Amino acid sequence: MIDLHNHILPGLDDGSSSLAVSVEMARVAAADGITHIACTPHISPGVYNNDFAAIRDALQVLLKAVNTSQIEIGLSIGADIHVVPDLVECICSRKAPTLNNTRYFLLEPPHHVCPPGLSSLVENCLSRGYVPIITHPERLAWIDYHYDALCEMQNAGALLQVTAGSISGSFGRRARYWSERMLEEGRVDLIATDAHHFERRPPILSRARDIVSRRMGERMASRLTLENPGAILADKRVAANGVLADVPVP
Ligand SMILES: [Fe+2]
Repeated sequence: MIDLHNHILPGLDDGSSSLAVSVEMARVAAADGITHIACTPHISPGVYNNDFAAIRDALQVLLKAVNTSQIEIGLSIGADIHVVPDLVECICSRKAPTLNNTRYFLLEPPHHVCPPGLSSLVENCLSRGYVPIITHPERLAWIDYHYDALCEMQNAGALLQVTAGSISGSFGRRARYWSERMLEEGRVDLIATDAHHFERRPPILSRARDIVSRRMGERMASRLTLENPGAILADKRVAANGVLADVPVP
C-alpha cells in the first residue's frame, strides 16, 4: 500500500514531535504493509511556515534514520497545503512542494467554513496543469451543506482523499457516514492515513483497506490504496470519478 498523506516529518507541524517518533511511525507503517509514504507536513502561513527547502531537509534526515534502522519503506516529498490566496504561485514557484514533484498536491480546505473562492481556486490550479487532491472531505464540518460543490470540483478534475480512520470509525459516526456514502457513490479517489503519531492517529491503512475489500471488492480496495496513489507518485493520469483527468504535465 502507498500512503500519500502523513505528518511523519519531525518538528515541522502538529505531527511527529521528534526523529524517534518519526522512525517509530515508519516502523508501524511498514508493519502494516505500507511500502511508500509521501511526507506531507502542513503549510499554513502564520501557523506552520514550512517551505520546500525545510521539508526537503527534514526528509533527508528521516531517510537516513530510516535507513540506519533498516526499515524498508520509501519516502517522498510533499505537503498538506492549506487554502491561501497565493496558493497557485506557491506551487508554480516550487515554494510549496507537490507530491513527489508531480502535478498532484494535497489541498486542505478550512474545516469549519467553505471558502467562497474554493471552486475557482481549484479551477485555477487545474488550468495551470496542477491537480489538487482535496484532503479528508468526509471530516469537514461543512460537507453536509456543500457536498455538491465538492462533487463538482471532482467532476472538474480534482481528486478526493478520504482518511483511513474515518472508514474504520476513529473519527466518529459523521465521518464514517460520509466516507461510506462517498465510497458507495464512487467519489473516493484514494485513501490515506493522515497519520500524526505512531499510537494516536497511527499510519495504519490495512483496516480501512479490509473494510473496503469486504464491502466493495478487492479490486476497489487495491485501486484506492495502491493503484491510484501509485499513479499519482508516478505522475500518471488517475481515473477521477470514472472519467480520466487529462491534464498536461506542467
Ligand atoms: Fe493532514
